[in-house]
Amino acid sequence: MLAHLQRGGIQVQSLRVESEREFVAALAQDWDIILSDFGLPGFSGLAALDIVKSTGKLIPFILVSGEIGEDVAVAAMRNGASDYLLKSNLARLAPATLHAIEAAEAVRDKRRADLDLAQSKDRLRELAQHLQTSVEMERAAIAREIHDDVGGSLTAVKFDLAWLARHVNDPRLVERINQSLETVNHAVEASQRIMHNLRPAILEQGLVAALQWMTQRFEKRTGILTVFRTSHDTLHLPVGVPLVAYRTAQEALTNVSKHAHATEVQVDLTLAGGVLSLEVSDNGRGLSGDDLAKARSFGIRGLHERAGTVGGWVDLSSGSSGTTIILSVPLDAVVAPDDEDIDDEDAPRTGSDPLNDPTSWGDQ
Ligand SMILES: Nc1ncnc2c1ncn2[C@@H]1O[C@H](COP(=O)(O)OP(=O)(O)OP(=O)(O)O)[C@@H](O)[C@H]1O
Ligand SMILES: [Mg+2]
Repeated sequence: MLAHLQRGGIQVQSLRVESEREFVAALAQDWDIILSDFGLPGFSGLAALDIVKSTGKLIPFILVSGEIGEDVAVAAMRNGASDYLLKSNLARLAPATLHAIEAAEAVRDKRRADLDLAQSKDRLRELAQHLQTSVEMERAAIAREIHDDVGGSLTAVKFDLAWLARHVNDPRLVERINQSLETVNHAVEASQRIMHNLRPAILEQGLVAALQWMTQRFEKRTGILTVFRTSHDTLHLPVGVPLVAYRTAQEALTNVSKHAHATEVQVDLTLAGGVLSLEVSDNGRGLSGDDLAKARSFGIRGLHERAGTVGGWVDLSSGSSGTTIILSVPLDAVVAPDDEDIDDEDAPRTGSDPLNDPTSWGDQ
């Protein structure tokens, strides 16, 4: 065999072993290929093949035999042998060896690439989830600052202006002051609106109330008949979950108004079997795979990542009768930092650190 390999232009460093013990010891090193006889006293090619397989190493294995039946050859190939040769046909050994080594290298490359791809997907998913959470925390921080700084100053100005209006007698001044008061009131409203968009304060009253409010407002704004149903009037949800559900409903409803051409939409909130589900279904035109692949559309992709931050997932189904988005969150899978962070809607929240808790921001 060595002579045939050399004749085929292959430079070979080889080790010849004859027993299982020697074979196992030799496998500690790295080899490009194993050429194995079929039958040996006390050992066999098929047993050697099993041993290679059990190490998990990807070493090509060619069975070379004086006589080999078709059934044995098939069994060997099925068990992971790269090839089999008859000793009477060793001219084929060199090309078969090169081919087997190349094929194994290609498999190794593919495994490496698959692993890299899986790792990179994991990293990307972690990053996307991290970004979702950071965006919420940043929004909460900005909203808090507007509330404390801008809101506080505007209120102080309002009081001062009201005081002035009471203490001046010149009607022209009073009129000017009242105009200023109007401007300040307008600024207060604007800052409240901005705060609400940054961080829905309505969530302080619980997810059910927030969704009720959101669906009513949606119906009023768009004229699309919107039905909200819930299995519970109040829900005790772990930290993070209410905001994820709220943002999911918000994006789903925005999509309905932007894309669906629907006349009716239903929002169902259910807690059953320890799983919270939020279902938004419309009777619109439905969506296709192409819609979801749009390069510049991030809404639905974001929902998947957002759901992942609390151990949940999003299912989407669509047909000619409309689109349904379902968010599911198994509540026991949500990791709450400690018991204090459980969102108890009937009691005021205390003890959690609002900066680290994207769901908490309130009317301090
Ligand atoms: N309820 C719906 N009915 C019909 N088509 C929809 C619906 N929701 C989404 N689509 C389609 O799926 C596409 C992707 O939606 P997605 O929310 O991911 O992105 P978008 O709304 O286009 O942009 P954004 O990133 O602002 O959310 C939309 O562009 C639209 O074509
Ligand atoms: Mg969208």
